[in-house]
Amino acid sequence: MRINKISELSGGSFELFLLIKDIQSKTARNGSSFLTFSFTDGTDTLSANMWDMQIDSLEVSAREVAFVSLEGKPYNGKMSYTVERIRPSYPSEGVSVSDFVPTSQIPPETLYDFCISRIAKMENKELSALVGRIYSDNREKLLHHSAARSVHHNKIGELLWHIARMLKLASYVADTYSFLDRDMLASGVLLHDIGKLDELSTDEMGITEYTSDGCLFGHALLGIEKVRKYAKELGTSDETVRCLTHIIAAHHGTRDFGAIAAPATAEAYAVHCIDLIDARMYIFEENLSKIDEASFSDPIYALEGTRIYKPKKN
Ligand SMILES: [Fe+2]
Ligand SMILES: [Fe+2]
Repeated sequence: MRINKISELSGGSFELFLLIKDIQSKTARNGSSFLTFSFTDGTDTLSANMWDMQIDSLEVSAREVAFVSLEGKPYNGKMSYTVERIRPSYPSEGVSVSDFVPTSQIPPETLYDFCISRIAKMENKELSALVGRIYSDNREKLLHHSAARSVHHNKIGELLWHIARMLKLASYVADTYSFLDRDMLASGVLLHDIGKLDELSTDEMGITEYTSDGCLFGHALLGIEKVRKYAKELGTSDETVRCLTHIIAAHHGTRDFGAIAAPATAEAYAVHCIDLIDARMYIFEENLSKIDEASFSDPIYALEGTRIYKPKKN
């Protein structure tokens, strides 16, 4: 059957265009060679094996759009897919790589402008100068970056999507807890993951990989270094830099989750909680869109193995 999207797959034979993200060459226990493909349709991803096949015999390679014939069969209570045939797409078929690149729900330019408008509203001119300069100097990277390799916010522009939704939450939090420093809280949100621009690289196909610096230092330290560099150039006061970089150092909450320090200011604690809410809500939203009402998801690793439930609407 000819289909358009990975979400339409079930048991049986299907054909569709998919972007090949990656191909891994493997050897089965019986010594035969097989390939594991990672595909995307721009919304979902799919992993499928092609048995008794070597990479040299393929007509296709990673990072191109292919026409794929898949066979779906239940295995261990889940559907498992095998690649039966695969060939490159032809120019006459009118498909291009850009149709398959996962991108944020809202255009990254709109999200960037939303962040800039929040920076413009800051009463603390030291913070608005510092955050504004970091944003304008890194505009292209911010527009393009995803926030993660997997788990949450892993599409092009989704680092900004994550930040924009956190900014909205931060505004409600600052309205409720009026003792908080509103501009410090917003600046912390805007910069808490800025080190991801150096920790991860997202290519034009939306494929994200860790950089060497990312593997060795993580985005909290890389973010602190970036902010300190700009603050030195702009002559930002020591206390402002201290409080802002502490938010970055502490935004993962505990050392077990990669924090350099535990949150010691109210703004740092608030950013940590807001970050966690947005990351978790993203995981709920993505998984709820894939399951039917009155049913459970598969166990979700990022939610401690919880199978989430989609309530039935009356
Ligand atoms: Fe982070
Ligand atoms: Fe974050």
